Amino acid sequence: MFTLAHITDPHVGPLPRVSARDLLNKRIFGYLSWIRRRRDIHRPEILADLQRDLADIEPDHVAITGDLTNIALPEEFQQALRWLGQLGQADRITVIPGNHDAYVALPWEESIGQWSQYMAGDSDTVEASGPMAADDFPAVRIRGDIALIGLTTAQATPLFLATGEIGREQLARLEGHLTALGRKGLCRVILLHHPPCPDGLAWRKRLVDAEEFRSVVSRCGAELVLHGHDHKFGSASIDSVDGRVAVFGVPSASALADGKRPQSHYHLYGIDRSARGWEITVKVRRYDGREIGFVQSDVRALTLERT
Ligand SMILES: [Fe+2]
Repeated sequence: MFTLAHITDPHVGPLPRVSARDLLNKRIFGYLSWIRRRRDIHRPEILADLQRDLADIEPDHVAITGDLTNIALPEEFQQALRWLGQLGQADRITVIPGNHDAYVALPWEESIGQWSQYMAGDSDTVEASGPMAADDFPAVRIRGDIALIGLTTAQATPLFLATGEIGREQLARLEGHLTALGRKGLCRVILLHHPPCPDGLAWRKRLVDAEEFRSVVSRCGAELVLHGHDHKFGSASIDSVDGRVAVFGVPSASALADGKRPQSHYHLYGIDRSARGWEITVKVRRYDGREIGFVQSDVRALTLERT
């Protein structure tokens, strides 16, 4: 059995020192939101407990679906990189960016590109060619029977918008990957930040080309789609040519409950090939306070039948 931990939206803190110049753009609103509210919700000590829990459980792989930063300050990308280094080695952790990681437009090398080792696909030679670029997505990593397919939906948006977009070219590349990986009989796990199924998400936070994404998945097949963004649980499915595709989201990895959204949780997937297709166990790990740390709060099993 392959074990995959899915954590999302860690919003690593505390916020580094900011200058007035850093805030002469959309960041001022994110900064004020951090000072007023978010710094009390996204707690570094919860991420420390999460790190301990993952060290105890030792999953085969960890997928992180974006929003490692808060207002995309250059120092935040380095801070997130140090946090990733504490979590583990880049070949066992796959990262994709979220909208907060593109809060304002920055050169790739100074921002998201800092995490190239954690994002690069098996065929991307990060060390030889320098940081990967947005055009390198989807990034495909194969680990045992599992193919992790990382997408980017991160793009700088105007004030008050937190939308994401995959784009036609990336969708075309996704189509090719899903078909080829399906022919190899691998368990295709797609990672993206924005939820791809309508679930009451605010219009201003939507994935602009969600319908096009679902259409590609429907035509080419996949097994799991994992996302973040809304800091809530999400559970949906997409009917595909190969059968049902399960779509799951989890709350923020660093959050205390705030009345609207739950406290930190993450999912631990056990993925097994069977005669019928794929047997998947989803264990829910919940943060239960400093004394206790993370505990298993629920478990569900699903069968994805494949011919
Ligand atoms: Fe987030």
